[in-house]
Amino acid sequence: MAEASAASPSPTSVQHDTHSTRTHTCGDLRPEHVGEHVVLKGWVDTRRDLGGVIFIDLRDRYGLTQIVFSPQDDAEAHDAGNTLRSEYVVSVEGIVQERSEDTVNPKLPTGGVEVRVQDVNILNTADVPPFTVSAHEEKRTRANEDLRLQHRFLDLRRQQLQENLRLRHRFYQTTRRYLDTQDFLEIETPVLMKSTPEGARDFLVPSRLHPGKFYALPQSPQTYKQICMVAGLDRYFQIVKCFRDEDLRADRQPEFTQVDIEMSFATEEQVYSLMEGHMAALWKELMDTDIPTPFPRMTYETAMRTYGSDKPDTRFDLKIHNVSDAIAGSGFRVFDNIIDGGGHVIAIVVPGEGDQGRGYMDRLDAHVRKTIGAGGLVYVRLPSDGSAPQPSVKEHVIPTEYIDEVLTTVDAGAGDLVLVLAGTYPTVFEQMGALRLHMARELDLLPGGNEGPWEFLWVTDFPLLEWDADAQRYHAMHHPFTSPHPEDMAKLDTAPGEVRARAYDLVLNGTEIGGGSIRIHNADVQQHMFNALGIDEAEAQKRFGFLLKAFRFGAPPHGGIALGLDRLVMLMAGASSLRDVIAFPKTQSAAEPMVKSPDVVDPEQLRDLHIRTVLPKTDGAG
Ligand code: AMO
Repeated sequence: MAEASAASPSPTSVQHDTHSTRTHTCGDLRPEHVGEHVVLKGWVDTRRDLGGVIFIDLRDRYGLTQIVFSPQDDAEAHDAGNTLRSEYVVSVEGIVQERSEDTVNPKLPTGGVEVRVQDVNILNTADVPPFTVSAHEEKRTRANEDLRLQHRFLDLRRQQLQENLRLRHRFYQTTRRYLDTQDFLEIETPVLMKSTPEGARDFLVPSRLHPGKFYALPQSPQTYKQICMVAGLDRYFQIVKCFRDEDLRADRQPEFTQVDIEMSFATEEQVYSLMEGHMAALWKELMDTDIPTPFPRMTYETAMRTYGSDKPDTRFDLKIHNVSDAIAGSGFRVFDNIIDGGGHVIAIVVPGEGDQGRGYMDRLDAHVRKTIGAGGLVYVRLPSDGSAPQPSVKEHVIPTEYIDEVLTTVDAGAGDLVLVLAGTYPTVFEQMGALRLHMARELDLLPGGNEGPWEFLWVTDFPLLEWDADAQRYHAMHHPFTSPHPEDMAKLDTAPGEVRARAYDLVLNGTEIGGGSIRIHNADVQQHMFNALGIDEAEAQKRFGFLLKAFRFGAPPHGGIALGLDRLVMLMAGASSLRDVIAFPKTQSAAEPMVKSPDVVDPEQLRDLHIRTVLPKTDGAG
């Protein structure tokens, strides 16, 4: 039973919860309850004193109910009502009554009624909250996020966050039901495991029993789920935490949740239709929306060359045109050199921006150079009055006929703004992809919220390997267990960069919400792949010997996918950050401000773990 905090500034005596059981939640009462005697329990949201009559919105997870303390009804209860402050926890007993017509609140489901209080128990007081918690969005202060995360127990009282967590809960339930009907087994895999190569840094856990040795927290259960297939479990899934020590962004957390899936004897088509069914079930049950299936597909190459991204946002057009042929030989040295060197001159047409002034164009040029990192921007404005096109470069630099040829190629007309960049594939396409998104934001083409449209897309045929110029070696673009395209197998030694992978990503409105592949299931092919990655046999044995061994004992062909659960819930909730759909998220610097993790530990703990810390000289902390 709750007791008064000794530090409480309030003289109110906190009482034991002597009221009978709560009869309704704060979201339940409707006009049909008028006249009933009810017991509600909850938090004091807002409080108004109107000429001696006190109105309080009582809040719980289910809603808000107006409760009324009138001195005429019960003087004692009214006096107690006077002592109530924000976030006090109270139990009230009273009679439901209809609100007068002019006081009905159509915005609240309970807005037609109120409870006239006969008795009130204060179950707990509350310190003055560092920010307003109210369920009424308009009453909330814009507290900074760090303060809110430090007091996450208050922050989570916000209705929006509670709705997001409820959506997340329903996501788990629908997912489990759906995969269960598809014969998937939910199987847990270890959290204390060994490094897996998903491309990020590992979080390590020192072993007390094995001095000098470390567990790694899984970046994903990739190898375990493949072992489940070798074990004949046929269809595996897990809603699982994954840990990656990487730079954080709004759509990245160091620990995040995947819906992880693996199937034996799977083809790409089976994975696609399984996931399309899963998405359709989620949208139907959680969003009451029918989404059309099957989803469109696009190869990686087309996505990069048309949208400048491997996760194209197809909700709007602004497609990339290659204008190299139109502009080649113009005499403009920069472009000619790039084209001669095998590079490209590419353009997008931005409708309705052809009348922009010099100031706007200069700012756009600065954005392209500083934020996007391109060498510079060439543009042509086509005024909406139909007057002559205005290129950013003088006629003696690029003759008019070349500009006209570009405008014909991209089919630009009056009122359009044509933006041109030059460089090599894929860099210049990625830069144009970033500029495309920037212009979409400028034009307000990216609807926020969660009303749709919902543009799902499969991106297929990823390259197997990616050249890392710094390390001077190839990396696996997905991970090293991804199967090469059988037709491209021969190129693995001769032209590794050209080998396509049997890998796919699921994209929603420009966000990567899932990724997977058909795997290698043969030890020799797996070793071949390791060789292409510069991992020799000894190293492969050391890191993945268990998998290579398992592959020698009858491994079935298999494949799978992992969905980013947090990202999906974020999009479904219309939230702009993963932090709004995770109960206790980490900040940009991978810290958790409420419990204050990470933290130093006792020297004895370190001694037990055979660990000594050597801090950087500049860092006096710890
Ligand atoms: P991948 O690395 O593509 O694949 O991850 C799958 C999905 O997880 C989400 N995701 C993240 N979400 C939040 N924060 C992060 N730091 C983060 N990193 C990834 C993305 C991504 O699409 N083992 C493979 C799957 C497989 O091959 O079956 C894997 O983990 O939405």
